[in-house]
Amino acid sequence: MKLRSGGRRLGCVFARRCLALVLCGILGAEALDNGLARTPTMGWLHWERFMCNVDCQEEPDSCISEQLFMQMADVMVSDGWKEAGYEYVCIDDCWMAPQRDSSGRLQADPQRFPGGIERLASYVHSKGLKLGIYADVGNQTCAGFPGSFGYYDIDAQTFADWGVDLLKFDGCHCDSIKHLVKGYKYMSLALNRTGRSIVYSCEWPLYTWPFHKPNYTKIRQYCNHWRNFADVYDSWESVKSILDWTSSNQEKIINAAGPGGWNDPDMLVIGNFGLSWDQQVTQMALWAIMAAPLLMSNDLRHISLQAKTLLQDKDVIAINQDPLGKQGYCLRKEGNIEVWQRPLSNLAWAVAVRNLKEIGGPLSYTIAIASLGQGVACNPGCFVTQLLPEKMKLGFYGWTSNIRTRVNPTGTVLLRLEQRIYTTPETIIHIL
Ligand code: GAL
Repeated sequence: MKLRSGGRRLGCVFARRCLALVLCGILGAEALDNGLARTPTMGWLHWERFMCNVDCQEEPDSCISEQLFMQMADVMVSDGWKEAGYEYVCIDDCWMAPQRDSSGRLQADPQRFPGGIERLASYVHSKGLKLGIYADVGNQTCAGFPGSFGYYDIDAQTFADWGVDLLKFDGCHCDSIKHLVKGYKYMSLALNRTGRSIVYSCEWPLYTWPFHKPNYTKIRQYCNHWRNFADVYDSWESVKSILDWTSSNQEKIINAAGPGGWNDPDMLVIGNFGLSWDQQVTQMALWAIMAAPLLMSNDLRHISLQAKTLLQDKDVIAINQDPLGKQGYCLRKEGNIEVWQRPLSNLAWAVAVRNLKEIGGPLSYTIAIASLGQGVACNPGCFVTQLLPEKMKLGFYGWTSNIRTRVNPTGTVLLRLEQRIYTTPETIIHIL
């Protein structure tokens, strides 16, 4: 489904308002009680990079086939992705045969998945990874394959029998918003009834927004993550529109995120064709701040060392996966700079400074630590590390001091602030 950003580019709201949200609102809602996604899901999902390519004659290496997922699983293990935390190998649309079988069960396209999904799941499991699959709450998937409407129990059981570990449930071709809401809830319960642990990834709010504001309290009770906004494309325009939508709507959505349930701003497109280095840094940094599922859609068999290093950056992943599970937010917009922040466990904070300009050179921006808000780690002092674009220890800072940053156009500087008491004379260098 295509939702437009509507050209709205609202700035961030003020610190006090955001902080109040964070302190009072988070985790008001119960999470889906399946014990899964206690931190945002990490893995790989085929859609943005491979889309609905079903032509295995012409393009055997990039069509949607068991080979693609097996190769991706192999590389995830051999090239450090699994070790970095990427665990789910996920199939998106276009895996199905055009018809259900004679018992009404979905079946994989027999040419492209000769061993069926069950064999693929065993293969993926043998690598210590998990398998995700895709279906749709309506009469057809977005690409026109069989939908699950009228078959929720059968499909949930089929996925469980096959050994599937995650379901992305799309919302195309649904008759009414009432059916959509009922369908998303029903499928959640059906998955639970199978007794298998299956992460449930929804697009429920995305399809609800055109009608009314989604009920995020309910959505969190049924889904492990949920897409709010339009599909990500391999372009800066697209990544930017997702960030703009998120900051404009943060008061409505960040309360809902927490262990067990996450806002999903869609796939990471780092390592593809459309983003410059600085824009890739921005996507990684902000997906960490937003506590977003990290589902890469790229070709892990052919990826630059630079993109791989960024995607596997353990300090940035640690922010994304922080056990406190609070989603960050945009604190303020000042001219061409946006400051985002996220509270972390052990009184640490992540701070991201984005340069919104698409012209000129790097912008210098000074953050007065006190302007980050009372709750922030630097009272009375903190140790600051810059994580992106390069890792650098910036040293000790006090409550009344300033952090100077320099940010490339469309890029982001990501910082981690750890609370520390300063003791030695050299540590007070930034305090005076
Ligand atoms: C879209 C969905 C995408 C992808 C696609 C498949 O609506 O938002 O993420 O799954 O359908 O057809």
